[in-house]
Amino acid sequence: MPLPHVLLSAAVSLDGCLDDTGPDRLLLSGAADFDRVDAVRAASDAILVGAGTLRADNPRLLVNAPERRAARVAAGRPEHPLKVTVTATGELDPRARFWHAGGEKAVYTTDEGAERLRRAGVGTAPGSEDPDAASPAPGAAPAPGAASVSVVPLGAALDWRRLLEHLHDVRGVRRLMVEGGGTVHTQLLRQQLADELQLVVAPLIVGDPAAPRLFGPGAYQAGRLRLLETRALGDVVLMRYEPTAPGTGTGAVPADRHWLRIACELAAQCPPSRTAFSVGAVVVAADGTELARGHSREAGDPVVHAEEAALAKVDPADPRLPGATVYSSLEPCARRASRPRPCARLILDAGVRRVVTAWREPDTFVESADGSGVLAAGGADVVVLPEFEALAKEPNRHLP
Ligand SMILES: NC(=O)c1ccc[n+]([C@@H]2O[C@H](COP(=O)([O-])OP(=O)(O)OC[C@H]3O[C@@H](n4cnc5c(N)ncnc54)[C@H](OP(=O)(O)O)[C@@H]3O)[C@@H](O)[C@H]2O)c1
Repeated sequence: MPLPHVLLSAAVSLDGCLDDTGPDRLLLSGAADFDRVDAVRAASDAILVGAGTLRADNPRLLVNAPERRAARVAAGRPEHPLKVTVTATGELDPRARFWHAGGEKAVYTTDEGAERLRRAGVGTAPGSEDPDAASPAPGAAPAPGAASVSVVPLGAALDWRRLLEHLHDVRGVRRLMVEGGGTVHTQLLRQQLADELQLVVAPLIVGDPAAPRLFGPGAYQAGRLRLLETRALGDVVLMRYEPTAPGTGTGAVPADRHWLRIACELAAQCPPSRTAFSVGAVVVAADGTELARGHSREAGDPVVHAEEAALAKVDPADPRLPGATVYSSLEPCARRASRPRPCARLILDAGVRRVVTAWREPDTFVESADGSGVLAAGGADVVVLPEFEALAKEPNRHLP
């Protein structure tokens, strides 16, 4: 199921704190960074914060620059992004500024939380997932045509993937900016649902062991995230990172899309052929380390396949192979005349048990090839991401 692009945004002190424990919000960023955040908000379809941040900071979560709001309206978008919060308890103050500024709001909660919100007069009736259902702004008489607050109960507990699917499918959210706090950021990163982390480090030290931290303890992707950008903004520094670790099993995570895109781009480097596909492949360890990459007919070999070329560059004894994922722009072949072992078999023999591909092999050269079936029969998980099919086909357009 497609999900929105999820961008985690936060500012931290040098000792990794999001705030101190004082009554007022600790200002970590400066004017230049607040303006950058405003631009990121303006480019988002929705902004999400946890209920803890609503209670601690009472934010309005608006696009502040009039010219950015005007540009959104000119582009046919709402003046402000959808504002979203999550709560299990439903203990939200109806007087909070979140409700009383901007446009549409959505609360994702549990059945119990929805009931408490209903009693407090917040949003639509529990059970209603109709985001267009009119509802009063809480704590105040609704103005005619006032923006609605939709309350979406997700059962006994909140499931982030379901929440993101709902935002994507029902609310049309393609870019989601998550502005904290630490509890929310921690879950999204640990569950491999974040596409990007925008982290600002401010030159001050909080030093209070009770201060909230950006990421709590637990299991995260092993290995390193990929640095996309650094930027000085006054005395703070913005760092943009993206996760690199492949998913596990048949579920796809943002890093899977990153690696499959690289495989598709590699396919464009293949010497063209009238008798074989142009394919790219990347082998990636479980911690996000790239082990090898290859493409069809590389290095002057007229028959080598992409997966074969990539796997040939990895030591067969490499202990990372059983946990690795092979990304291939086209489903690995099940049968071939040019070599004794097809790529599906080479992958299994290498010990790899997860393959992500963009495009099932058509009958162009081999009828009813079913590399996915061979892989599945050998115990491998195969993930097909059809959103990359057009990109994978691009260097093969000359083929019948
Ligand atoms: N420096 C920054 O960039 C920045 C940005 C944002 C926030 N902050 C700071 O971060 C602190 C707040 O962080 P926080 O970690 O306490 O709070 P938070 O992450 O904003 O919100 C946590 C709350 O969200 C709800 N929630 C989270 N995950 C849930 C799930 N899976 N299911 C249901 N509900 C869920 C729960 O609400 P209920 O308790 O209502 O059930 C939970 O208590 C504040 O000090 C704030 O100033 C700093």
